[in-house]
Amino acid sequence: MINLADTVVLAKKMAINVGKMQKQKLRKNNFKINTKSTMSDLVTEIDLLSEDMIRAKIRNNYPEHNIMGEENKFEDKKSDYTWVIDPLDGSNNYASSYPIYCISIALKYKNEVVMGVIYIPEFDEIYSAIKGKGAYKSGKAINISHKTALRHSLIATGFPYDKNKSKIDNLAPFNKILKEIRGLRRSGSAAFDLVSVASGRIDAFWEFKLKEWDYAAGELLVREAGGKVYQSEIEGAPLLIAGSKELVSELRKIIEDIYL
Ligand code: IPD
Ligand code: CA
Ligand code: CA
Ligand code: CA
Repeated sequence: MINLADTVVLAKKMAINVGKMQKQKLRKNNFKINTKSTMSDLVTEIDLLSEDMIRAKIRNNYPEHNIMGEENKFEDKKSDYTWVIDPLDGSNNYASSYPIYCISIALKYKNEVVMGVIYIPEFDEIYSAIKGKGAYKSGKAINISHKTALRHSLIATGFPYDKNKSKIDNLAPFNKILKEIRGLRRSGSAAFDLVSVASGRIDAFWEFKLKEWDYAAGELLVREAGGKVYQSEIEGAPLLIAGSKELVSELRKIIEDIYL
């Protein structure tokens, strides 16, 4: 067993270093932008540089660990430990200089996330959690808002990149939920939404078709901050809902009533 406290220190260092670089490059605003699967699925030169920097540091410190990151192939070392990285969550925001984007780094032992770190460069907020040891923002313990009724709640969501050809009608839950809540936010970064739930500035969050690197660290942060994260699949599309157990079950009911 490795010492998880050491991995948090390393992950925080990597996230803050990469975040500083992202912020500087954004100010210069001179980087290449390419599309991937659809016209809204962007990857910038900075996404790739960020992932290279994080992978190099992990390889240096834990050469025997597996590494999974959004922009590169899975590095399989047949280890029980796997690092799960989203080097820049919120690429569309970044490409437009919209200041909400994050670095998300998680570590899994076998199939379970045991450590997670998220850094928001433009807010200079660093979030971290070790399984069973609580969630922290810049060293101070954080908690979810513990709201129990949708009508008093600020809710976040996001839309998948295949929105034009998706079998799932994303607007159906959007229309229903909007009528039941105090307000709806779409930040453009799932990791940002999840730390916002963990720290109580957003009461709950739902999104279809997230990938493991989008939520690995954020899911642990929400759980360690006293929240619930529910995952299922509807018509082949993964669904994630996070918040207090009451809000998760209200959102789940509205969404499942539409599709199931
Ligand atoms: C995306 C962001 C966005 C969410 C998308 C994700 P990326 O990640 O988290 O908020 O709606 O589903 O793919 O591509 O910017 O790392
Ligand atoms: Ca992406
Ligand atoms: Ca992402
Ligand atoms: Ca990304």
